[in-house]
Amino acid sequence: MELINIAKEELNRNDRPELKGNVSNMQDYDTVILAYPNWWNTCPTAVFTFLESYDFAGKTIIPFCTNEGSGIGNSVADIRKECRNAEVRDGFAMIGGQVKNSETKIRQWLGQQGLL
Ligand SMILES: Cc1cc2nc3c(=O)[nH]c(=O)nc-3n(C[C@H](O)[C@H](O)[C@H](O)COP(=O)(O)O)c2cc1C
Repeated sequence: MELINIAKEELNRNDRPELKGNVSNMQDYDTVILAYPNWWNTCPTAVFTFLESYDFAGKTIIPFCTNEGSGIGNSVADIRKECRNAEVRDGFAMIGGQVKNSETKIRQWLGQQGLL
């Protein structure tokens, strides 16, 4: 509950938590699979820090969102607002606890995205 409340405060303040790592060669990627949990119906604020740290113009972003029942929520719409010059695909939502038993389904989805 403490984490849930802290995350809500971060979202209300529109925080951009500092990330511990960075991608030094983002220019080498034309497609980025963006995997995140649904927090308060959108991405965790740290994911927005990530999206604002690089220029995604001309790149394809493929969202993958774990959740506990809200599906993808507003996350894809919010990613599109952040990355107006990127192609942001509709994304894939999965209950977090089902991920480890869903390799076939995830591979199928990656195939549909042209990644396998
Ligand atoms: C701060 C916080 C907020 C969350 N908000 C939502 C939500 O709005 N909708 C939802 O379906 N799940 C929500 N969840 C559940 C997470 O999406 C879920 O824990 C995660 O996707 C599954 O990853 P895990 O199995 O590693 O915990 C929230 C979890 C946390 C910690």
